[in-house]
Amino acid sequence: MNHQEKLAAANAAENKMAAALNLRWYPKYHLAARGGWVNDPNGFCYALGKYHLFYQHYPYATAWGPMHWGHAVSEDLVHWQHLPEALAPSEEYDRDGCFSGSAIEHEGKLWLLYTGHVFTAEFGDDTHLRQVQCLAVSEDGVNFKKLGVVIEPPEGFAHFRDPKVDRLPDGSFYLVLGARTPDDEGRILLYKSSDLQHWCGPEILLSSKDNDPACFMYECPDLFKAGDKYVVATSPMGLKPEGIERNNPSITQWMYGTFDGSTFKKESEFTEIDAGLSFYATQSCEAPDGRRILSAWMNMWHVSWPEDQDGWNGAFTLPREVTFENGHLCQRPVREVAALVTSTEEVADFTLSNASRTMCADAQALRLQLTLDPEKAEQSGISLGTSAVLSVDRQHGELTLTRIDKGLYLPRSVKLDPKAKVSLDVFIDRSSIEVFVNDGQQVITTRVFPQGDRELVAFASNGEAAFTAVTISQLGSSIDRLRF
Ligand code: FRU
Repeated sequence: MNHQEKLAAANAAENKMAAALNLRWYPKYHLAARGGWVNDPNGFCYALGKYHLFYQHYPYATAWGPMHWGHAVSEDLVHWQHLPEALAPSEEYDRDGCFSGSAIEHEGKLWLLYTGHVFTAEFGDDTHLRQVQCLAVSEDGVNFKKLGVVIEPPEGFAHFRDPKVDRLPDGSFYLVLGARTPDDEGRILLYKSSDLQHWCGPEILLSSKDNDPACFMYECPDLFKAGDKYVVATSPMGLKPEGIERNNPSITQWMYGTFDGSTFKKESEFTEIDAGLSFYATQSCEAPDGRRILSAWMNMWHVSWPEDQDGWNGAFTLPREVTFENGHLCQRPVREVAALVTSTEEVADFTLSNASRTMCADAQALRLQLTLDPEKAEQSGISLGTSAVLSVDRQHGELTLTRIDKGLYLPRSVKLDPKAKVSLDVFIDRSSIEVFVNDGQQVITTRVFPQGDRELVAFASNGEAAFTAVTISQLGSSIDRLRF
């Protein structure tokens, strides 16, 4: 089949999936595919007058397979409309998958840079593969024409993927991509171009030797400007847990520094971008007003995905604005989330002492904002039915979001000043919780899978906690999902 035929088959498969979805955990206001499997966000950009978010997609099943690029567009980052599949594997160089990549507008067209993936032995055998960087272009932002391979790997490199393109201040282009050297060093490589078709490089932007000695591959790197700093974000493979950090099977981290067009000089060490269970392969986009926005796959490799029984698998985080403030990278939900609010309730301040209080009998899709003074309580916070607890623990000085699933507990924590009040901005959707802590200083994102009970309860155990500035906003549906 040629590319057009492959796309038509993929769209038909997705339509079939979409018609049979079980919606019990399907997000009301987070982007997810209309059916099938998704992983990384790709090609997140503002181009031809709209935001575009493409994604790794397998429309034939709820498990990973030969990767396509799904496609959705938005005017405001929160109301999304699905479009037909943008890329399908069809050529000798991308036979087994159109892997992750990025997009940019240039000369009135939308250009995609993606990795052409081929398993050279058995399908799925990661030890024998060939990866090249490919270009595709669209005049209308919907239909894409493949233009072939534009970057071949350096001699001996097999893992060589995930190009992320952006502009230098002089208007020319750079891209970063992730690579694994033949002796298992992870590298972020830098290439440059003036026309997106001819690329010079690579230069080594960053090596695991100087940053994460255990890392053998940097997946999905990004290099972007936030304030007057440059940020490197990436998903390293091979790192081990350390205390409350890096406990996930797959992690995503960032650091900031300066970048002069060739050299990145770090001014911080890598830290995890999101402390939760469900954040991987982040990608950023520059909004027309200059804001830097990021999203990520709100799942990750090697964890359970119960929604795969329901005809779909995987979703994306809320778009978040990244800022650099007082030596710290912050993330806040984009201000456009206000457009999702259907009603708001302001709750009078209250204290709880060894007690609990219902905040919402059936929390499906809402935003809960509050300030918590936990100083005198051993544990205080909120719970969602029997499937999640968000609690401040005075003993350890930690805020923990715990996913509870049939007796299995998976907690993820951030450190807090145990004596200080903490402000929480919590986004609950049908199968996710995102918690922005202290005005975006830290974020915890975890998928949760309630089996019916969705009562939202505030509690304080062994002592007294004060809950102030409490607002509950119900959020409406924002995804035009079931039709093209
Ligand atoms: C990250 C990743 C990328 C790759 C894609 C394949 O999750 O492994 O490195 O391009 O997924 O689907």
